[in-house]
Amino acid sequence: MQISNYHTQQEEIACTTIMPTRMIPDMVDDVRQSLLKTPRSLSPKYFYDERGSELFDQICSTPEYYPTRTENRLLSKYAIDIIRKTRPDQILELGSGYSTKTRRLFDACEAMSQTCIYAPLDVCEEVLIESAQKLSEEYEWLGLNPLLGDYHGGLGNLPASNGSHLFVFLGSTIGNFERAEAINFIKEVYKAMRYGDHLLIGVDRVKQDNILHAAYNDAQGITAEFNLNVLHVLNRELKANFNTEEFTHSAIFNKNKERIEMRLISNTDQNVQINDLRESIQFDCGEDILTEISQKYTYTGIEKLLTEADFSITDHYQDEDAYFSLVLASK
Ligand code: SAH
Ligand code: AVI
Repeated sequence: MQISNYHTQQEEIACTTIMPTRMIPDMVDDVRQSLLKTPRSLSPKYFYDERGSELFDQICSTPEYYPTRTENRLLSKYAIDIIRKTRPDQILELGSGYSTKTRRLFDACEAMSQTCIYAPLDVCEEVLIESAQKLSEEYEWLGLNPLLGDYHGGLGNLPASNGSHLFVFLGSTIGNFERAEAINFIKEVYKAMRYGDHLLIGVDRVKQDNILHAAYNDAQGITAEFNLNVLHVLNRELKANFNTEEFTHSAIFNKNKERIEMRLISNTDQNVQINDLRESIQFDCGEDILTEISQKYTYTGIEKLLTEADFSITDHYQDEDAYFSLVLASK
């Protein structure tokens, strides 16, 4: 697909829908396959309706959630270096959210007179449009092509244009994939790129469990609200009747698997109707739903993930505490 319809400041912003290149389950399929069966789980992509995206944004400002500010500092420090090495004509971001940290790259582009098109891909249309509107005011020179789609559907339909592409995958969202799935996903990103293109990926590192535990159990309870929001999404989208007061947020660091596991735990024996599916779920007291994994990586684990997909590592930036990695790799 050639870019012909990217937006400038004067126009009303609309998203381009990216069709999947393979069948992906919809919410009904996912609920049948993962929530109606035990062990129960849900895909983390269902967190991100408008409210969920706002809650994630609030998590990013909590004192306990170090990943966002650490990654933002790394971007501030190295953005000029990254733009000098990549000279992108297009920046394509996977799971862009509010594109807050990506602004460090736009600032560097501006400083280096590098004009480019920004194509953020996300499942949340409201956030894509709101963010693109703000970006068009802040960076008048930036071409905008917001993409509405699911990166699980294959990346074969991403817009291609002449020139160099910088793919960006921030926030350690790669941690939401199981290790084996993460390698397959990085291979798909590689396949979607052309030789000479770059990938910039932010990955959270393995560290002391008290720091990890606090990051996913903030004192204000915003992460708990974010976790419970998925039940509001199911209530609205599938006419379910989850009572969010009857579930408790849990996030623990699984030391063996080096990952945070986030769950919702039933406070009582209860029956929940999923009206659109004409199904009900009987929860025993203490029974849980796995709502998210957040895999943490070691320095070498990150390099292995990228090199197994054939990427060449250009730079591996990290903060002085080695809390977070920002890696620039090329195809
Ligand atoms: N990159 C941002 C946001 C991270 S939160 C940051 O670093 O702060 C994860 C983002 O990925 C959310 O905006 C969510 O809507 C999006 N997302 C989650 N699953 C997705 C999927 N399957 N396809 C596309 N976007 C997805
Ligand atoms: C987007 N994702 C990588 C975040 C994480 O850290 O796993 C989402 C999140 N969940 C709870 N807090 C933040």
